[in-house]
Amino acid sequence: MKQYVILIEYAGGSDKGCDGFRIDTKPILNALRKIAVDGEVVFYSDERKEELFNYIKQKASAVISRINPGNLKEVDSYFQFLKSLGDEGIEIHTHPDVMINLDFKDILEKLKNSLVGDKGTHFYHTFKEFKADFPKILQKYRVRVLKTNYGSTGEGVYLISLRDDDSIICTEAVDNIKYFYENMDNFIESFKDKFYHDDSNSVYFKGKSGFVGCRFLPRINEGEIRILLINDKVASIVHKRPANGQFSATLFSGANYEYYQPDNPQYKEVIKLTNKALINIRKYLNGHNYPLLWTMDYILDYDKKGNDRFVLSEINCSCVGITTQLTLADEVAKFFIKKD
Ligand SMILES: Nc1ncnc2c1ncn2[C@@H]1O[C@H](COP(=O)(O)OP(=O)(O)O)[C@@H](O)[C@H]1O
Ligand SMILES: [Mg+2]
Repeated sequence: MKQYVILIEYAGGSDKGCDGFRIDTKPILNALRKIAVDGEVVFYSDERKEELFNYIKQKASAVISRINPGNLKEVDSYFQFLKSLGDEGIEIHTHPDVMINLDFKDILEKLKNSLVGDKGTHFYHTFKEFKADFPKILQKYRVRVLKTNYGSTGEGVYLISLRDDDSIICTEAVDNIKYFYENMDNFIESFKDKFYHDDSNSVYFKGKSGFVGCRFLPRINEGEIRILLINDKVASIVHKRPANGQFSATLFSGANYEYYQPDNPQYKEVIKLTNKALINIRKYLNGHNYPLLWTMDYILDYDKKGNDRFVLSEINCSCVGITTQLTLADEVAKFFIKKD
């Protein structure tokens, strides 16, 4: 069958250019056409998903999902839609069976004993568990990071600091805004509503609500190192440095981004580590390929001997943007060359 690649977008959200498309969508489509792979862009809507399913089923050999799940209310339903297309033999980038593992913060707990993990990571699935354990952990370490299992751009990522007078400062990574709590009880109660119950219609999201508790890595002030991969190859490095004295390395919070080639000697160690870590990640792919376009982010730490150690801080694979590196569109397209 001749290849035909359909890119799926969503009409809402702030990630669009003035023409209504994501800025990196058309460059990917054009790069595919340059290598003689045809395709098109369609827009997903939950109401019209059956119609769209039939259309894509008839036309596509592969789909590339370009929807930032944060823009979509019905993410579980969309995941089921992608799975059904996959069941029809269409190649899905990224397959939801992969996203459900890699794109959620609980991957940090799953990888806690691996080369890139941190042993002190714990996933609190319920508020009850959080209430019973987190106060002890915070008393012990004085500072922790809590990440909502499914979030992005710093939303639902909190730096929690216990002060000498037992009050608590909670800083959200989305904007570095600080919230103050008089004591532990007040703080814990403020998290009660942040744990939600499973929706009975969910297929993918069952058991996925909760927060991942992580060790605070103070070397975040040296930045976060993003390794961008195209399938199993490192394609680019982004060094994201938080705005002065801040904790968040997200763009919105004012962080500075610098881009490097994958052969830059300064990043040799983290590239070597990433290549090794691919083996640890394989078992969470549910039998699928590595994502087409994805990232592994690291924060520096020290090992027991005082040497640099890179700790994984998150993986993104649902809709990694290349808007600021549009030349990568050609690399993304090359993935499809071997199939013809
Ligand atoms: N363990 C940590 N120690 C210190 N800072 C962290 C840690 N984890 C995350 N951060 C900071 O919080 C920001 C957002 O967290 P991240 O895990 O990347 O979630 P998001 O999906 O919102 O990008 C990071 O860019 C980084 O600046
Ligand atoms: Mg991040």
